[in-house]
Amino acid sequence: MQSELKNGDTAGAIAISEDIRQNLEKISHHGKRADFIVKGMMEHSRASTGQKEPTDINKLSDEFLRLAYDGFQAKDKNFNAELITHFDENLPKILVVQQDIGRVLLNLFNNAFYAVNQKLKTAGSDYKPEVSVTGGLENANAIINVKDNGNGIPDAIKDKIMQPFFTTKPTGEGTGLGLSLSYDIVVKGHGGTLTVDTVEGEFSTFTITLPLS
Ligand SMILES: Nc1ncnc2c1ncn2[C@@H]1O[C@H](COP(=O)(O)OP(=O)(O)OP(=O)(O)O)[C@@H](O)[C@H]1O
Ligand SMILES: [Mg+2]
Repeated sequence: MQSELKNGDTAGAIAISEDIRQNLEKISHHGKRADFIVKGMMEHSRASTGQKEPTDINKLSDEFLRLAYDGFQAKDKNFNAELITHFDENLPKILVVQQDIGRVLLNLFNNAFYAVNQKLKTAGSDYKPEVSVTGGLENANAIINVKDNGNGIPDAIKDKIMQPFFTTKPTGEGTGLGLSLSYDIVVKGHGGTLTVDTVEGEFSTFTITLPLS
């Protein structure tokens, strides 16, 4: 740019200054993104010190469903979704680290509310967002199902969603650590499973199983 200015090439100098401006924007954008990711990692990696305690999984699910919903409404007053719960009363208390399973639930519910909120932006006025949670028993496992009627997950990315840092959300809205952390907590921390069933454009259902003993 200096040589352009010396040679009186104003158009050239302006073009270069525009490049510089765009590059600065990119640097700032990626700097913010790095900051956001590191904060997310620190939050997620805070070592679990929790003890496993006998827990009413139905109650925990219900509490975190409402917590996530309140959090969403705090950000967007106009956001409304129907909350549906089905809890099997026969589910005994099971041993879990409440704080960790709470994080898993919060992430699944946040993902669900985000998905229905995205669909609200494009769907017709007859679209009614719904997020449901089911707590029950199957064989020797406690089952928690979290279902939303949002946009579902395309086949092409279904295999990637549990990978760390995989996200389709814009900078500032997601780090892509939620499901990978949830997977580690459920599978490595509690000997359970975390699976997904989805139809693009229609729904996503995440299922947690936790062994009763
Ligand atoms: N209920 C859902 N409906 C549609 N897509 C989903 C749903 N849950 C997860 N996904 C997809 O999986 C990706 C990864 O989810 P994950 O929870 O790991 O990260 P994130 O929500 O993007 O960010 P973070 O949880 O770290 O804030 C999401 O970006 C989204 O593309
Ligand atoms: Mg998430």
